Amino acid sequence: MLYISTILVFIIFIILLNFAYAGVSAAPWVPSRKKDYQRVLELAGIKNGDTVYDLGSGDGRWLFYFAKHSPAQEIRGYEISLIMYLICWIKKLFSGYPQVKLSFGNFYKFNLSKADVLICFLTPRAMKKLLPKLKKEMKPGSRLVSYAFTMPNVEAEKVSKVSQKSVSIYLYRF
Ligand SMILES: C[S@@+](CC[C@H](N)C(=O)[O-])C[C@H]1O[C@@H](n2cnc3c(N)ncnc32)[C@H](O)[C@@H]1O
Repeated sequence: MLYISTILVFIIFIILLNFAYAGVSAAPWVPSRKKDYQRVLELAGIKNGDTVYDLGSGDGRWLFYFAKHSPAQEIRGYEISLIMYLICWIKKLFSGYPQVKLSFGNFYKFNLSKADVLICFLTPRAMKKLLPKLKKEMKPGSRLVSYAFTMPNVEAEKVSKVSQKSVSIYLYRF
C-alpha cells in the first residue's frame, strides 16, 4: 500500500513540476475566452491549404475551432505540458479532424518555417524571446496572431478590440 501511495505521490509531483515548467517556459495554462475565438480566426485570415501552428495549444480549444471553421490544411498544436497534451490527444481521438496534429515539446525547439499562420497566447517575456526565432524562420507574408499580449518593439498590422473590457488581439506580418 505504501509502495502504491509513493508511486502516486511521485507521479503527481512530476505532473505538477511539468505544469510549473510550462509556466516558466512561455506561459502557464490559462484558457482563452470562447467568445474571442472568432476574432482570432478573423485576424488569422486563413486561406485554402494554409498551415497553422498554435504555440502552446493547451487543451486544443483553438485547434478544433480552427479545424471546424477554416480551410487550413494542417493545424498543429505544440504543447509542453503533458497533462494538457494528453487532454488534447484524447479530444483529437474523438474529434474527426485529421488536419489537427499535435507535437509534444518545447516550441522554441521546433522549426516553424512551414507555418503560414502562428497563433499564440504567451507572456510578453516569451514573445520577446520568440522574436529572433520568428525573424529567422518565418516566410515572407506569414502571420502571427497574438492573444492579449503584444510582441515587444514590433508594430502590429491590426489590433482587434471590440469594447473597453474586451481582450486585445494583435496581428503581425513577417
Ligand atoms: C496561456 S495558455 C494558452 C492555451 C491555448 N492556446 C488557449 O488559448 O486556450 C499557454 C500554453 O502554452 C503552453 N506552453 C508554455 N510554454 C511552452 C513551450 N515552451 N512549448 C510549448 N508549450 C508551452 C502551456 O502549457 C499552456 O498550455
